[in-house]
Amino acid sequence: MIVPPGDIPRGIRCTRNERALQADLIAGHLLAMLARVHPETFRHSQRVAYLSLRLSLSIGSSAQELETLRIGAQLHDLGKLGIPLRLLEKAGPLNGTEFEIVKEHPVLGAQFLEGLGLGPEILSIVMHHHERWDGLGYPNELAGNEIPIMARIVALADVFDALTSHRSYRNTLSVDDALQVIVEGAGNQFDPCLVRDFIRLDFSQMPNRSVSGAVGRHGKASRWPRLFQLAAV
Ligand SMILES: [Fe+2]
Repeated sequence: MIVPPGDIPRGIRCTRNERALQADLIAGHLLAMLARVHPETFRHSQRVAYLSLRLSLSIGSSAQELETLRIGAQLHDLGKLGIPLRLLEKAGPLNGTEFEIVKEHPVLGAQFLEGLGLGPEILSIVMHHHERWDGLGYPNELAGNEIPIMARIVALADVFDALTSHRSYRNTLSVDDALQVIVEGAGNQFDPCLVRDFIRLDFSQMPNRSVSGAVGRHGKASRWPRLFQLAAV
């Protein structure tokens, strides 16, 4: 049973491991909900988490950073639960008004997770995964190193997965073509140092895109590469 953060008696200080376990439990329940309500957003989030962890490992992140990134990346689009499904599933590009509504999802997600007591590092990933290196992103128009590095990592993985995923209104890009788009975004949309490390990853180990249902310890048995499962421990 999950004890809501507000029910923990005052004076009882959780250790980091206890907080991490509680965050993991909360995240597991939220992911199960996301998998049921928005299966495509759930699958996208799993792929983004996998790529984010691969990139983060390649730059020498600590075990604690990987743990935070794993949860934050999986929950980065949770705020889409507050966006009308007709917009998320629209078979074509969004108009200006519709796009403004969809752009609310990082703030909605962060507010939702803050209410559940998840830590500020996880919240910052959710809040800032649509910021751009040149400051033209949203919601806060942060630029460069003002953007938390884990949000910069997720931003890169997020766009790469979107480019290589099926969309009814455009062709799916090959890995090579998507990497070309990522390279062209270095220094304007993306952190150029992270782009350099990202394009060096081995994309022959991309997860099976047919994976569905909850993953890891909270859900169905996973067919994801062992790296993802190890990072989830
Ligand atoms: Fe998003």
